[in-house]
Amino acid sequence: MFPLRRNRRLRTNEAIRSLVRQNFLTPNDFQAPLFIVEGKNKKEEIASMPNYFRFSLDLLQQEVKDLWSLGIKSVLLFVKVDDQLKDNKGTEAVNADGLMQRAIKTVKDAVPEMVVMTDVALDPYSIYGHDGIIENGKVLNDESVKALAQMALSHAQAGADFVAPSDMMDGRILVMRETLETEGFTNTGIMSYSAKFASAFYGPFRDALDSAPVDAKDIPKDKKTYQMDPANRDEAIKETLMDIEEGADIVMVKPGLCYLDIVRDIKNNVNVPISVYQVSGEYAMIKAASEKGWLDHDAVILEQLTAIKRAGADFIATYFAKDAAKLLS
Ligand code: PBG
Repeated sequence: MFPLRRNRRLRTNEAIRSLVRQNFLTPNDFQAPLFIVEGKNKKEEIASMPNYFRFSLDLLQQEVKDLWSLGIKSVLLFVKVDDQLKDNKGTEAVNADGLMQRAIKTVKDAVPEMVVMTDVALDPYSIYGHDGIIENGKVLNDESVKALAQMALSHAQAGADFVAPSDMMDGRILVMRETLETEGFTNTGIMSYSAKFASAFYGPFRDALDSAPVDAKDIPKDKKTYQMDPANRDEAIKETLMDIEEGADIVMVKPGLCYLDIVRDIKNNVNVPISVYQVSGEYAMIKAASEKGWLDHDAVILEQLTAIKRAGADFIATYFAKDAAKLLS
């Protein structure tokens, strides 16, 4: 066919490239994860996440206003819980005056239109650092699901728009949906972490919340009995279809970059919005390499976020939400 077909004609200059470009990033694509800590006037940098912070509630207000003014319309909330409030059952997770419940109200006070989503899993509240309740060295499924449904209800009562279960217990979406319906929270949505893999990329996050599984006798060392095996593809679709049947409004794939084949598989199989979580380890890698001058920070961020969208994400939970929104403006 050469020279009749020359693909480079469509790449000649930015004008023609922009005309044929298929995927675009806008601040609407980003959801900002926020780490929240008890206290006043606290903005603590997370050691393994340079330029990312835990905020106390007073400083959270301004952060949320800044995000909104950059065009970011949703936040995903996580709390760092004081050690003395942790137990095996996550009792503190349903405290109506707990840190998460107050954080939800704080965000809504600062920017009422902000779409507030909350992480639902026991790990920040667990003395063992697991997403569910432990008995005899095992993470119990059904008992954990009951606790998680009550946690989701508590977030809805505090004003969350969506609850985001990240625990990977079986059947939790159904029980959560039923609980929310019965209690009158028919408009509270569920964003399910549907295809969440047992990934080594969550390390910096567990530093941020001090929520890593503890190293103790009879406590599972990792989350492999509930999070998915990174080697598997088919069960990502199975998990996701089941969550949709159980009532998930939005489904998620997590982490991002290593799992873009899964994102595309799911995109081809479902008709609900898909979010992708570009996780803490992905953030840390880019930060570390660009601090060394080995990667172009800004270019790499936009390339990765574009790739996630191209794979099929409708939006992206990313620690680069602010940076990317600024780069796009
Ligand atoms: C809690 C939870 C985790 C993340 C989100 N929710 C950690 C884990 O499952 O161990 C990880 C997010 C990140 O690494 O950025 N269940």
